[in-house]
Amino acid sequence: MPITNEQFTQIAKLVREKAAIVLETGKEYLVETRLSALARQEGIDSLENLFQMLEQDTVFNTLQVKVIDALTTNETSFYRDHHPFEAMRKDILPRLIKERGGKRELRIWSAACSTGQEPYSLAMMLLQYFPELAGWNVKIIGTDLSLRVLEQAKSGIYNQVEVNRGLPAPLLIKHFEKVPAGWRLRDDVRKLVEFRELNLLKPWLFRERFDIVLIRNVLIYFDVATKQQLLGRIREILQPDGYLFLGSAETTFNISNHYTPERFGNASAYRLVNERGS
Ligand SMILES: C[S@@+](CC[C@H](N)C(=O)[O-])C[C@H]1O[C@@H](n2cnc3c(N)ncnc32)[C@H](O)[C@@H]1O
Repeated sequence: MPITNEQFTQIAKLVREKAAIVLETGKEYLVETRLSALARQEGIDSLENLFQMLEQDTVFNTLQVKVIDALTTNETSFYRDHHPFEAMRKDILPRLIKERGGKRELRIWSAACSTGQEPYSLAMMLLQYFPELAGWNVKIIGTDLSLRVLEQAKSGIYNQVEVNRGLPAPLLIKHFEKVPAGWRLRDDVRKLVEFRELNLLKPWLFRERFDIVLIRNVLIYFDVATKQQLLGRIREILQPDGYLFLGSAETTFNISNHYTPERFGNASAYRLVNERGS
């Protein structure tokens, strides 16, 4: 049975309230397909029954969490969009390494990192190009709302299709080992990245600021007020001279005037305006 208008409205309200994700009219088919797949996976025999169980799921919210998870889009790849990584490799990391030489600390947050390709791409880059960081305290934190994607991220295991997307063959050979399910990242890369569950709408309990924040291809799912709120909160956890990366279709323009883009080849990173006195 196709999803009804009331059911669609109910789901759209739920994901907006809990994850800030905006599901506009026209996405009925997507909701129906994803929730039908979830129902099959959970052994629930119809969408109708899934909605009934969702209404009764008021104490532990286990089904609710799975519904929200099923409606997230987890598209990602190694070295996605390429240019931001080139900007970090050629300009930003050499700059930060020079500036942080005293403390020997580097902190990077990959927010909404999905299955982990983004933070692992960074970890491989640090190992390959910046051996001088060996004695530093380097931390890359990857976070996402979805426990399903975080489980894969933590495992460090990717199938053939996933490693074929964006990962140069020499890096596959150097940093992965073959396992029955595909390819597993070696420990030296995995140990540079820590994964945590974090819904961007909830408090961020970070003790120290980050030198680089990547929050790419997630703001597009949120409304303007949520984007404003998140960009405001990023100001509080980004180092005053730090760098913010958004997705290629995302911008701070018309949302926050506390950031200014700095161009690095074909990529832009956002810097804080007032804090640096510019
Ligand atoms: C399209 S992926 C982007 C992955 C990666 N940043 C990239 O650019 O390749 C969007 C991710 O945002 C996550 N997400 C959506 N809403 C979120 C929220 N409220 N809090 C945290 N993560 C969220 C989804 O689970 C999904 O993994």
